[in-house]
Amino acid sequence: MKAICQVRTLSLLFLVCIAIVNGATTIESVLKAKGDFSDIIEGASEAGILSLYNNPSATETVFTPNNTGLLDTLSDLHIGAFQALELLQNHTLLKQLLLYGTVNESISIVSLSNGTHQFPSMLGPNLTLVKNSTGAFVNDIAVIEQDIAAGSSEIQVMETLLIPPNVHIS
Ligand SMILES: *[C@@H]1O[C@H](CO)[C@@H](O)[C@H](O)[C@H]1NC(C)=O
Ligand SMILES: *[C@@H]1O[C@H](CO)[C@@H](O)[C@H](O)[C@H]1NC(C)=O
Ligand SMILES: *[C@@H]1O[C@H](CO)[C@@H](O)[C@H](O)[C@H]1NC(C)=O
Ligand SMILES: *[C@@H]1O[C@H](CO)[C@@H](O)[C@H](O)[C@H]1NC(C)=O
Ligand SMILES: *[C@@H]1O[C@H](CO)[C@@H](O)[C@H](O)[C@H]1NC(C)=O
Ligand SMILES: *[C@@H]1O[C@H](CO)[C@@H](O)[C@H](O)[C@H]1NC(C)=O
Repeated sequence: MKAICQVRTLSLLFLVCIAIVNGATTIESVLKAKGDFSDIIEGASEAGILSLYNNPSATETVFTPNNTGLLDTLSDLHIGAFQALELLQNHTLLKQLLLYGTVNESISIVSLSNGTHQFPSMLGPNLTLVKNSTGAFVNDIAVIEQDIAAGSSEIQVMETLLIPPNVHIS
């Protein structure tokens, strides 16, 4: 799509191309438009798995904190800025974290019953989602903004980062 656009010099055609490119709603495009998720997108890009977020035909659910929630997670774990940069270079770890926060199906929290639900993460281990009168929680971490549609996928904004069992960040 982009290649076609670049060879067009006629301004009208160029505008048409831009409209088509922008028209493909993905998890990445929605997170970018929200503007507070650049760190998670950069992490996915660094780890070489941005395809997890930019496939317009995907039907999945991404559970992710915003930039502040990510910083909160690091500070809860007593990880400083320098160490965070080192962690960002560990692509194995980044992949584990991002795959754990992704489920290969569309989950609409509003349409779930109250109670406990299990969903297999793309990393493997299940995520445990509880919906009750307080709200929705995944592994006891609050969902602070739920059911943001991104094409046929959903984004669930978490208070902090979901960390897989047996993965140690330090
Ligand atoms: C990178 O992360 C993996 C998976 O969490 C861990 O096993 C490994 O020790 C880490 N590597 C470095 C160099 O910290
Ligand atoms: C996701 O699920 C679809 C079927 O709904 C399947 O075709 C696809 O291989 C799955 N992808 C992964 C990465 O598990
Ligand atoms: C994971 O969740 C699925 C339902 O999505 C369930 O069938 C399975 O038993 C769960 N696995 C574990 C280990 O709890
Ligand atoms: C879930 O519980 C809340 C609060 O108790 C209630 O208002 C709501 O109707 C329940 N939703 C479902 C789907 O049962
Ligand atoms: C709802 O579930 C969360 C997470 O498990 C829990 O912390 C909270 O106390 C529950 N709220 C109620 C009213 O049971
Ligand atoms: C970002 O996440 C933090 C921590 O979970 C939350 O307090 C804040 O309200 C969120 N920001 C926005 C703009 O939703």
